[in-house]
Amino acid sequence: MSVLIKGGRIITAADDYVADVYVEDETVTLIGESLDVSADKVVDASGKYVLPGMVDPHTHLDMPFGGTVTIDDVESGQTAAAFGGTTCHVDFIIQPPGSTFADAFADWRSKADGKQVIDMGYHMAVTDLKEGGTLEELASLPDEGITSYKLFMAYKGALMVDDETLFRTMEVASQTGALVMVHAENGDVIDVLVRQALEAGKTEPLYHALTRPPEAEGEATNRAIQLARLAGAPLYVVHVTCREAVEPIARARDQGWDVWGETCTQYFFNSLDDIAKPDFEGAKYVYSPPVRDKSNWDVLWNAVRSDALSAISTDHCAFLWDGQKTLGKDDFSKIPNGGPGLENRLHMIHEFGVRAGRISLNRMVELLATNPAKLFGLYPRKGTIAVGSDADIVVFDPEKKLTITAASQHSKTDYNLYEGTEVTGSPELVLLRGNVLVEGDQLVASPGIGQFVPRAKFGEELRAGARVA
Ligand code: URP
Ligand code: ZN
Ligand code: ZN
Repeated sequence: MSVLIKGGRIITAADDYVADVYVEDETVTLIGESLDVSADKVVDASGKYVLPGMVDPHTHLDMPFGGTVTIDDVESGQTAAAFGGTTCHVDFIIQPPGSTFADAFADWRSKADGKQVIDMGYHMAVTDLKEGGTLEELASLPDEGITSYKLFMAYKGALMVDDETLFRTMEVASQTGALVMVHAENGDVIDVLVRQALEAGKTEPLYHALTRPPEAEGEATNRAIQLARLAGAPLYVVHVTCREAVEPIARARDQGWDVWGETCTQYFFNSLDDIAKPDFEGAKYVYSPPVRDKSNWDVLWNAVRSDALSAISTDHCAFLWDGQKTLGKDDFSKIPNGGPGLENRLHMIHEFGVRAGRISLNRMVELLATNPAKLFGLYPRKGTIAVGSDADIVVFDPEKKLTITAASQHSKTDYNLYEGTEVTGSPELVLLRGNVLVEGDQLVASPGIGQFVPRAKFGEELRAGARVA
């Protein structure tokens, strides 16, 4: 199959120019002006942006969490992603305590069997390290294409690890070419604050945010940075929400340390006003770290503009409001933590980042595709448009108007964090390795088309055909 995309405005992290793109089979093979080639499919992209497929480095599909399982499985989550112009994501395998990483990996692969709509890789969330077992096994994961270790510094009694496990994982990463990722909140302190709130009869969703203060995020972020420095491991801080966490990351980066930070779409738009909504509606906004005071919105826009933060993910971890969030109707600590977002990251950042003049189109592509691909060993197969790259391409109509609603989304959840928001600009055609995935409002390709992508080690490039899935 060959595809010729004619006369679009090609936007990468570095470039912005009008040209044709020629795709043969799975790969971009030619880029140039007025290409004289025949193709099975010709797309007129004049007046449109031609973007690389977006890469989401942080999602949770079909994940047991908070006494239930996230509502989007691989098929529904990836379908939502595809409609939003995301063609590759990196999901979290959670190691059940006592389990080997190999068993956890096999379990997560079986959840994707026959369901994949887009390409995906995995991070390994380490919950339990044993000498003479999983500690040694951890070192072998990068050779399997799992080149990032995730540690939760919060969720006491569930996913949280102690500093010994955190530090020992960092030591392994320093030797194996893995990137260490942390959920940075002080879980011990939060546990105390949650118990105190419940003892005082404070049970509403708002107390989720009030018992997880910015200081708890700032302290854990700083601790992770210092420990990673000591261990000699590269560090990526996920879902940064506030000044208290941005500042230590910015300081570390100023010193040239191997530290990067990510924020998520929702932290630019949701706030304490949302989680305080009456009649349990606030539960829709219960995720961790929590929504913050609105003053942090500008902190985050400045951070992504200045490269204090280097990526914007979704942390898509969707639950139904009616039936799953309601597990915590009488006790905020029982509300499953997480929110949806895979479908609307590009819509929202294009509208309120690019169209509002906060970031350039190039920076948008860098934050949503190129930097995630580079940091997580997917570049240059993913995250750019170049000869030799996978033909993961979004033809984006910058004039198309769309109202974001739960009723029209592809995620299985029953609400949208941006309900009723009007945006101008939306994907019109999405290609995955040269295959038409989405055209207009139709999913063209069938589940099964997506592949597992074994990722390159930290700092290395991923080339087409480098490894076989
Ligand atoms: O509330 C959230 N963010 N749920 C997903 C798990 C995590 O902490 O990323
Ligand atoms: Zn987290
Ligand atoms: Zn997450």
